[in-house]
Amino acid sequence: MEACNREILARMQSPVELIPQLAAHLIAAGGKRLRPLLTLAAARLCGYRGERHVRLAACVEFIHTATLLHDDVVDESELRRGQASANAIFGNKASVLVGDFLFARAFELMVADGSLEVLRILCSASATIAEGEVLQLVIQNDTSSTEAQYLEVIEGKTAALFAAATRVGAVVADRPQAEAEALDSYGHNLGIAFQLVDDALDYSAKQEQLGKTVGDDFREGKITLPVLLAFARGDEAEKAFWRRVIEEREQGEGDLAEALRLMQKHRALEDTIARARDYGDRALAGLAPFAEGPEKAALAGIVEFCIARAR
Ligand code: IPE
Ligand code: IPE
Ligand code: MG
Ligand code: MG
Repeated sequence: MEACNREILARMQSPVELIPQLAAHLIAAGGKRLRPLLTLAAARLCGYRGERHVRLAACVEFIHTATLLHDDVVDESELRRGQASANAIFGNKASVLVGDFLFARAFELMVADGSLEVLRILCSASATIAEGEVLQLVIQNDTSSTEAQYLEVIEGKTAALFAAATRVGAVVADRPQAEAEALDSYGHNLGIAFQLVDDALDYSAKQEQLGKTVGDDFREGKITLPVLLAFARGDEAEKAFWRRVIEEREQGEGDLAEALRLMQKHRALEDTIARARDYGDRALAGLAPFAEGPEKAALAGIVEFCIARAR
């Protein structure tokens, strides 16, 4: 991870000072570095002993960082990683453009790796992330959206990169297709679990714990599983409440607290976490073909870490 962080710092440089300034603001704030960790651990799990995985881990984190810059503009979020978001400080225009820069750097890193298979996996994941974000835009503010649509959104915006991050680990190690697929399945299911937990935390977390503004999803009228479950289980008066706040986006003081109360009444958050646990178990099943050892334990530990965020 230290080598990966050095690669990230080296690659975010540019003579145009605003670029490293804005990038450093977000990157130095930390973040969990989950996705690069997945690439490093997956490569080692597959017995890889070279250095290519370090550059690819940095590449994966660049893709993630670029999407965060764009996402915070789209979501009008003011807090990220416990501090003011880049768009809040530097403005939307700078955030979008530096996001583009980081995306382009990620592509340079893929080309430097030289494997067309790696390029294919990460390009395809990048397109899928964008599709997920656009689909989310299309279904937001609509309480008739379905769980299947929600799942498609989170598979795109989150699980695709988790899956690609782990799959490239198997590819650099030149492992058989079956192992690449097992690791892809691990990453995919972990990504879904991760986003489910994140969507519960968007209502139930403490701001300091989350490092983001609690209630962002509510304010934007995002359709997430906690909302879908509370809506489906609500009576007519409750459904009218959800239509007002999510569809009309007519929100007043106390509405977020009321949303949380209805979610608790209908066990919507607990059931969202239980669903995350299911996907976490599916992720663990993806590790079954691999030998026991520190790397497998680390990847299993990441699943537990993601679920435990809910506590
Ligand atoms: C944030 O991802 C975006 C989501 C998929 C919810 P992370 O929570 O992994 O972000 P950082 O990198 O740790 O800040
Ligand atoms: C993040 O989605 C997914 C991407 C950045 C592609 P969200 O909008 O749900 O994540 P947060 O809550 O801003 O981290
Ligand atoms: Mg967001
Ligand atoms: Mg978003």
